[in-house]
Order: sequence, then C-alpha cells, then structure tokens
Amino acid sequence: MPFYDMSRIEVLISEPDLQARIRALGERITRDYAGAGELVLVCVLKGSYLFLADLSRAIDLPLTVDFMSVSSYGHGFKTSGVVRLVQDLSESIEGKHVLVVEDIIDTGLTMGYLLENLQTRRPASLKVVSLLHKPSKARVPVQIDYLGFEIEDRFVIGYGLDFQGRFRNMPFIGVNTGAGAPLAPAAPASPAGAHP
Ligand code: IMP
Ligand code: MG
Repeated sequence: MPFYDMSRIEVLISEPDLQARIRALGERITRDYAGAGELVLVCVLKGSYLFLADLSRAIDLPLTVDFMSVSSYGHGFKTSGVVRLVQDLSESIEGKHVLVVEDIIDTGLTMGYLLENLQTRRPASLKVVSLLHKPSKARVPVQIDYLGFEIEDRFVIGYGLDFQGRFRNMPFIGVNTGAGAPLAPAAPASPAGAHP
C-alpha cells in the first residue's frame, strides 16, 4: 500500500505522461545545445531534484550539474514574494551555457530573482526549463525556454513537489482532493518477533 491515499488524490499528470514529456524536452535540448560548448544544468533545490535526474538522462550531451537552493520565506501554499539565497552554486558559471532546471513557475518571483542573480555572473547563455507553469498566477514575466506542462492554478504535489516537505517521492503529479494531507492511515505496528 502506498504511503499516500489514492482516494484523496487526483492524478493530474501520470508517471508515463511525465516521462514521455521529459524525453521530448531532452531531445529538443540535445538538438539546441549540440556543439555549443560547456553546458551546466542548475538544479533549483529541493523541488527539482527528480526532474533534474530524469531530464539530465534524457539529454545526450556532455554536461555538468550544479545545485542552488532558494527559499521564498513562508511555508505551505503561498509564496511570500521575498526570495533568499540559501545555498549557492559550487562552481563559477562564467562563459558557460547555463540551463536552470525548475519544478514549477508560479508567480515567477523565484525565477525572476534567480535569473537576475545568475546573469551578473556572465554566463555564455542563460535559459530556463520548467516542468510546470501556472500562467494565471504570474506576477513577474519570466521567459520559459522549455516547458513541460501548463497547469491551472491548483496546488500540486509529487514528483519533487511538496506539501510541508512531504509527498516529493510520489512518482506522479497530483492534487489533494480532501481536507488535510492525503496520507494513508498508518499500518498497524508489526508484532514483536514477526520479522523473519
Ligand atoms: P514562484 O516564486 O511563485 O514562482 O514559486 C515557485 C516556488 O513555489 C516553486 O519552486 C515551488 O517550490 C513553490 N510552489 C509553487 N506552486 C506550487 C505547487 O502547486 N506545489 C508545490 N510547490 C509549489
Ligand atoms: Mg522550486
């Protein structure tokens, strides 16, 4: 039994649909960057870790990966609008082709901040790939060079996206349809000595 309760989750994007779209994105990126020089995938933690893992394997080019973590002050459903750099890249991106890998662009505040910050480091190019986009919530215009799926304004979980830190490890993108977190009831503790 999964740890989440499928009777309280609507599947918005299934695992096969995610994987097919990511393969297609990888093929386009492979074509666009072929022969371009050094490519760096910058993963925006934590939400993009699964997308990076799958997308990087769908790109048939030599590349490096690096990680950045930003926090938008606030927990739960809402972005506060104030972005703070929590963890910086480990290497310089000067002269490199940078592709920022993001899970979702909602208001655009996070990506707006990131792009402004990264541009000052003089990369050879700076582009964005986002798995999801909620166009109805845009507050800052952000050019998304490669997009997985446009979705309506609903709070989504799974495939890296969390609610209060959890549900990142669901293999699909879903929406909680009940009140509270859609957790399956805890399994009864196994009796002492029951382990083989
Ligand atoms: P933005 O700054 O409003 O564009 O928000 C971007 C960040 O908010 C994302 O990187 C996510 O961490 C978080 N976020 C926005 N919408 C959702 C959602 O539907 N589910 C989970 N996290 C979300
Ligand atoms: Mg994110």
